[in-house]
Amino acid sequence: MPVQVGGGKVADPKGRLDLPATDKARASAKKNRRRQKKATAATAAVPAPVAAMQRLFDTSKEVFADSLPGFVPPPEAVARLAGLLNGLKPHDVGIESSMLCFKNVDSKGPSRVTYLHFYDCPKFSFGIFCLPKSAVIPLHNHPGMTVFSKILFGSMHLKSYDWARSAPDSDNNALENSDGSHLAKLNTDAVFDASAETVVLYPENGGNLHCFIALTPCAVLDVMGPPYNRADGRDCSYYKESPYMSSSGGDARYSWLKEITSTFEMKGVQMPQRVETISCDDSSSLMLPSSVIEIG
Ligand SMILES: [Fe+2]
Repeated sequence: MPVQVGGGKVADPKGRLDLPATDKARASAKKNRRRQKKATAATAAVPAPVAAMQRLFDTSKEVFADSLPGFVPPPEAVARLAGLLNGLKPHDVGIESSMLCFKNVDSKGPSRVTYLHFYDCPKFSFGIFCLPKSAVIPLHNHPGMTVFSKILFGSMHLKSYDWARSAPDSDNNALENSDGSHLAKLNTDAVFDASAETVVLYPENGGNLHCFIALTPCAVLDVMGPPYNRADGRDCSYYKESPYMSSSGGDARYSWLKEITSTFEMKGVQMPQRVETISCDDSSSLMLPSSVIEIG
């Protein structure tokens, strides 16, 4: 019910003034000017996370345009995407180390890994793995995939393998063991931090099977294509490693990897905001943070 106030003007219970026609026209023009100003500001100053992620999306889309299982992007395309990732900072993607997902909230259980899911289509996907200190992503594979990994902050131990094509022991050249494990050759066994360049693994080389141990809270952005696809027989498998012994003794360059049922669980978080500036050919959409987000 409107409430009568002085000067013949009427206010409704929400405090809005019912203005005479000329005042109404003036107010409406003012409102329109404000709207225009707002729209101009929105197009002129795209928030940093949107601009950076838009570039990442556009470049990934080009690099993985022909993505199929076993596809390897041309070297020029790999260099372009790796170069873009090399320059990416945490604030570009709206994260910072003070976020809850980088803290060990449950002191009794294992450190929980969180995956911030940004984009997914049949050709490629990207997201950020958030690891509190001591969190582990166990040894797993990337069947038929090319994966770009960039550490945004923190440090981690990375160990990676590729399937061996030949055994180092001329007396025993078996690539498969009686227990079903396969021979794998060590690719990388080192500590990486944000100063490291983008690590790229391929379907057949570059360390297609890998595991991470967070030495400090850390964030890793992954762009991978084509994504895992269980229906296509390309699910993520986990492995247990056992030392390789040749007839002349141990050889640290090789290990036996046996597929296991893993109990590893990750908390997946779909990024909350759809951004209009992203254009997709398909029905998928990119999720972006508008600013630093808090994820528990
Ligand atoms: Fe991985």
